[in-house]
Amino acid sequence: MWDTLKALQAATKDRKITDLFDDNRVEEFGVEADGLFFDFSKTNIDADTYTALIELAEEKKVSAKRDAMFAGAKINETEDRAVLHTALRNLDGDAVFVDGEDVMPGVKATLAQMADFANAVRSGAFKGQGGAITDVVNIGIGGSDLGPAMAYPALAPFADGPKCHFVSNVDGADLADKLAGLDPETTLVLVASKTFTTMETMMNAKSAFDWMATKVSNPADQFAAISTAEEETAAFGISAERVFGFEDWVGGRYSMWGPIGLSVMLAVGPDNFMAFLRGGQAMDQHFRTAPIADNMAFALALTGIWHHQICGYGTRAVLPYENRLLRLPAYLQQLEMESNGKSVSLAGDALDQTVGPIVWGEPGTNGQHAFYQLIHQGRQVVPCEFIVGAEGHEPHLAHHHRALLSNCLAQSEALMLGRDYATSEARMKAKGHKGDALKAHAMQRVFSGNRPSTTLMYQKLTPFVLGQIIALYEHRVFVEGAILGINSYDQWGVELGKELAVKLAPAVEEGGSTEGLHAGTAALVARAKALRTS
Ligand code: F6P
Repeated sequence: MWDTLKALQAATKDRKITDLFDDNRVEEFGVEADGLFFDFSKTNIDADTYTALIELAEEKKVSAKRDAMFAGAKINETEDRAVLHTALRNLDGDAVFVDGEDVMPGVKATLAQMADFANAVRSGAFKGQGGAITDVVNIGIGGSDLGPAMAYPALAPFADGPKCHFVSNVDGADLADKLAGLDPETTLVLVASKTFTTMETMMNAKSAFDWMATKVSNPADQFAAISTAEEETAAFGISAERVFGFEDWVGGRYSMWGPIGLSVMLAVGPDNFMAFLRGGQAMDQHFRTAPIADNMAFALALTGIWHHQICGYGTRAVLPYENRLLRLPAYLQQLEMESNGKSVSLAGDALDQTVGPIVWGEPGTNGQHAFYQLIHQGRQVVPCEFIVGAEGHEPHLAHHHRALLSNCLAQSEALMLGRDYATSEARMKAKGHKGDALKAHAMQRVFSGNRPSTTLMYQKLTPFVLGQIIALYEHRVFVEGAILGINSYDQWGVELGKELAVKLAPAVEEGGSTEGLHAGTAALVARAKALRTS
């Protein structure tokens, strides 16, 4: 099927996307799921291409693999683990078995434990030394940070609990800046780490503990842990009643639905957090039951395969016209690139094509005044994913939202329509340009157009909608990975740098030897030591 798709692309690559449009195209190349709408009409995908893409998914048995994932099969083969983040939001679903045991009672018990704790903190029943908790500091990195750090601003209109702060980087600047102005006596620290061994998190947790100890007599009483590693959390001194556990079948970058989302629950309350889970659950239901042709996760994935593997576009821009989704591109970078940035198949064979595109982006309209120049006129084509709500949460600023929406829609139209030389020349002539200057000015203002984009639209960014969107992207990653025959759920690519950092640590200390280090590294260690003053 790859060859068929490549042949279809070769035959249609010069075709104008606009030529594909008739009155039905948006309906035909659009998918609806519980109020969410995904429009992929502004791409060069036609009925034949889409049929071939669906056949590719069928040939790769994606639906059977999906069912195996939901049923608890150990599809993360290199780590011999099930992949069951979906169980964390399977609120009204059936039992889910791993190694013969139903995991749902444990999931529900942890959710209840989270809700009890969140209610106690939010009501002031759980106190710090100085009284009710005013601030929560979540210390974690990667999957133990990006989910809540993305969802917290996203759900700001629903936040009525303590303020949350997210510390991830081992750079002391991160911790220092986030702790500045906080009162240790009314601060709760959540140490979020699946393994509870991650160097950055443990160093930040220890320094936060020391900071709290400057004013609080029992700092451990104002610490909670979110982890799969009970022994390590006990060794840190955190009381078992404030340890929120999860199982190894929840991957780090898929973990915000459970205890890793505790900071979000503390901020917005258990009911809103449950609405977020229900949004994820609704998307799971859609993904499991809708035929491929009407399935939103398949539509995103197949559009992605078309653009990256078939058309060869190297990157994809995620452009939320929703300022509160400012951390979504960073979240999706981990979700997509840590999952599908691979070079070998499940069987360990080298792949003959790249798997995941580079994902990047920023909210609109800010990006328009930064990198959109390249998106519109650069030589490389960047498929764009616009994300926009029909309305905002600020009725008194509804005119702002209309401006936001019109900008978003204008961008996808501009990318598709472009502006030809004749139009550009006429505009420059009208401004009085002539001869060579006319050509030079006109050429600068030509837009090739025919640049693909998709639009994900919803009514308003609520916890439910956020849950739908995040689950949608998770399933898109799954479908792309399943089609390409890779394991989307391990991350061996992060290991080498971690190992070398451990080896390098003594060398950067004062008096540390650089013997045995690569010459290129040793020279930089020496230079840094010569530059530093303390
Ligand atoms: O470095 C990669 C990684 O393992 C991610 O996959 C994970 O989300 C992150 O580190 C944090 O790991 P942990 O939750 O165990 O501290």
